[in-house]
Amino acid sequence: MENVMFKNDEIPEHLKGNGRPTRDELTLTDLQVIGKIPEELNGCYLRNGANPFTGTSDHPFFGDGMIHGISLSEGRASWYRNRYVRTPFIDNPALDILDPSVTLDMTCSKANTHVVTHAGQILALEEGHFPYILDKSLNTVGVQDYNGLLRGPFTAHPKICPTTGEMLAFGYSPLEPYLTYLRVLPDGTIAQAEPITVTGPTMMHDFNITENYVVFMDLPAVFNLDLAIVGEMPIEWSDSYPARLGVMPRNGDDSQVRWYDINPCYVFHQMNSYEEGASIVIDVVRFDHIWKKGAADFPAPMLWRWIIDTVTGRVQETQVDDRSGEFPRINDAHVGRSYRYGYEMSIGKTVSGRADAGALLKYDRHLGSNTSIELESGVVSGEAVFVSAEGAVEEDDGYLMTFLYDSKNDTSEYAIFDAQTMSRDPVARVPLPRVPSGFHGSWIPV
Ligand SMILES: [Fe+2]
Repeated sequence: MENVMFKNDEIPEHLKGNGRPTRDELTLTDLQVIGKIPEELNGCYLRNGANPFTGTSDHPFFGDGMIHGISLSEGRASWYRNRYVRTPFIDNPALDILDPSVTLDMTCSKANTHVVTHAGQILALEEGHFPYILDKSLNTVGVQDYNGLLRGPFTAHPKICPTTGEMLAFGYSPLEPYLTYLRVLPDGTIAQAEPITVTGPTMMHDFNITENYVVFMDLPAVFNLDLAIVGEMPIEWSDSYPARLGVMPRNGDDSQVRWYDINPCYVFHQMNSYEEGASIVIDVVRFDHIWKKGAADFPAPMLWRWIIDTVTGRVQETQVDDRSGEFPRINDAHVGRSYRYGYEMSIGKTVSGRADAGALLKYDRHLGSNTSIELESGVVSGEAVFVSAEGAVEEDDGYLMTFLYDSKNDTSEYAIFDAQTMSRDPVARVPLPRVPSGFHGSWIPV
C-alpha cells in the first residue's frame, strides 16, 4: 500500500523506503527455498514491527503492531503469514495514542515492539501497555493482564531465565509508581509486582538480569507530557536527571535496591549481563544521548561494557567498538550468565567507508574481537535471532535468522546464516513479498 495520508503532504522519514507500511495480510504456503533449510529447525520465526493501519504515523514508534512469521518444518518453509495484532486501534483507527484517556488505558497497546513466548503463550509486547496474546496462526486472542495482577505497563524486553523459566520484567509509567518490577513464574502467574523508587518518570526500554540480581537502567530520557499536547513523543533528554544503575536481588524489594552512578547516556538495548565475583558485567548498546536537540537527535550507538564493582561502588565504563550497531542478541541459553558471543545488526556507513549496505556483526567477548557478514550493496538486515544447532556444544554453534531487504528491487527474503562461520552466503533463503522494516522477534520451536 502506498502512503496516502500525510501532514503537510510530506511523507515522514520513517515511512520512506522499507519503512512503507503494508496493508495486506497474507498467507502463503509451500514457499520457494534457495539453499537448504536445516531439517532440525522446526518452529516459527516471528518478528514484530510498527505498521500503521491508517497508512501513516507521526512517529516510528506509533505504528500498529504487525507480526511477520515464517514456519519451518523438516527442511521446508511451510508458510509465511503477516497479521496485525488486533488492538483497539485496528477496530477504531480514529483512536489517538497521545490522547491521555487512550494512553492510560492499558488495553490500548500498539503491540508493535517484540514478540516472545512464555508459559506456552505467544505475547506481542509494547512497553506502555498490557501484552497481547496470539495463537500459533498469529490470530489475536486478547490482552494478558495476569488475572488482574498486572495493573500497569509491561516492558517489551522481559528476560526469560534459562535456569528457572521465570520471566523477569518491569513496567515504567509517566504516573506513579514510575517503575514496577514484575516477576512471572514459569506457569504464567505473577509472583511479584514491586514498585521501585526512582528519581522521576523516565523511559526505560530494557533491563538486565544475572543469576541473582536484576539491574534497572534509570537514564535521563524523562517524560514531559506537554510534548504530547503538540503531538510529539512526550520524552526528552534532561541534563539534570542522574544516570544510575539499580541492582536488586531477583526476589528482593525496593528497600534492597542499590544505586550506582554512571555517566549520562541512553541505552535502548543490552546484549547480556552476568556476575563475575563481586562484579556485575553488562554489555550495552550505548547512545551518548538521545532527543537532546529534538526528535531527530540520535547519535550513532556503539557497544560498551559496564562493570559494576559492588565493593567500591564504582562503575567502569569502556567502549568496545567504534562501529555502530544495534539490536543485540545472544544465544538465549546464556541470558544472565557468562557468555562469549553477541550479535548485532549494522546499518549504513561502516568504518571501511562502505555505505548503504548493512551487516551482521558478531562479537567474541572473550577474545575482544569481532567478525561480520557484509551484505551486498543496497541490502540491509533486521535484528538477527540466534537459534542453536541440534546437539550444539559450542555457544555459537547455530544459526542467525532475519529478514533482509534489497532496496535495488524493493524485495525481501528470509535468510538463515551460519553463526559459527559467519559465511556471507546464507544456508538458506526464502524469497518473500516485501517485509517492512521492524523491531524484534523470536524463534518459537514447535
Ligand atoms: Fe527494543
